[in-house]
Amino acid sequence: MSKPCDVSDYQRLAQKRVPRMFFDYADSGSWTESTYRRNETDFQRLLLRQRVAVDMTRRSTATSMAGDKVSMPVALAPTGLTGMQHADGEILAAQAAEQFGVPFTLSTMSICSIEDVAAHTQKPFWFQLYVMRDRDFIGRLIDRAKAAGCSALMVTLDLQILGQRHKDIRNGLSAPPKMTLNSLLQLATRPHWCLKMLGTRRRGFGNIIGHVSGVSDLSSLGAWTAEQFDPQLSWDDIDWIRERWGGKLILKGILDPEDARMAARTGADALIVSNHGGRQLDGAPSSIAMLPTILDAVGDDIEVHVDGGIRSGQDVLKAVCLGAKGTYIGRPFLYGLGAAGKAGVDDVLRILHQELDTTMALCGERLLTNLGRHNLLEPTLFDRPVQ
Ligand code: GLV
Repeated sequence: MSKPCDVSDYQRLAQKRVPRMFFDYADSGSWTESTYRRNETDFQRLLLRQRVAVDMTRRSTATSMAGDKVSMPVALAPTGLTGMQHADGEILAAQAAEQFGVPFTLSTMSICSIEDVAAHTQKPFWFQLYVMRDRDFIGRLIDRAKAAGCSALMVTLDLQILGQRHKDIRNGLSAPPKMTLNSLLQLATRPHWCLKMLGTRRRGFGNIIGHVSGVSDLSSLGAWTAEQFDPQLSWDDIDWIRERWGGKLILKGILDPEDARMAARTGADALIVSNHGGRQLDGAPSSIAMLPTILDAVGDDIEVHVDGGIRSGQDVLKAVCLGAKGTYIGRPFLYGLGAAGKAGVDDVLRILHQELDTTMALCGERLLTNLGRHNLLEPTLFDRPVQ
């Protein structure tokens, strides 16, 4: 392929380089994948207002997200198994984000551990927390994120139980891969990936193995995680998490105005309008469609971010025009990582920035902070929940 021009080029490259079970893990949604698809297609419904003959010089996409200065309002979302898209994936992605001046969020379910990522980066990153039944472990994880200098804690609220992803079941997903005939075939066709993976010691869930009693190897880990996501998670848990953490808090997985008001009441610094990239409740609306309703519900009580379906700088711009103070990319950076390691993530960030900057100019704006609903046509097209 000639030089990649956009995120979909990197998607195709990653598919050729990453073993199917891991590419599909990132590339899929739950059940029929209708929400996963809608996240992307709903962006097309928003139309941009073209302006001409205005001064487009001295442009800037800089702003802040949850109090952190960013070169553009695009953070790397927490994604599980990132170190299986490419050896040492979390470290490479964190380094790319740091150089670009955007936040990197490390998932609880990462391959590289919090300490490992901290040891290979200069600036603080964000840490994402899954609330597990084992509250001692969660408490220690929060302390570890603090000790590693993480500058924000992101609590995921929409995964008390796992949405069913058919591709993962069919592919027999596990990390590292179990040596079945099916997985051996998947690996045999990806020698470059295998070589890199043989060259690293980071091949299991780094935040968990060695930190939970009774979990020392892959099979005990599998049993532990399957029963650990907490179906009893409640808003009260946010209070003790906030107290234990004592720093900036971001709540992820809000898709309903009622929940958004609850999130604002916790005193968190930001919420993320999210349906987990269409990986949880299939049949739910897209995140971008729910953004206006949620912004109306919370007003200025809490900073509002959005993830899900962002594949270009134009999508970032549209989300900002609707009122989001920040956006997150998951799959786009994973495609870059899977295709070309750190250089791929660097390039995806560069592409998104260029698309954002050029689109902003063609909308007749010089500063990202000046974007608003006035840059969109028909911004009221979006769905409202049944009252
Ligand atoms: C975990 O965050 C997942 O969606 O698989």
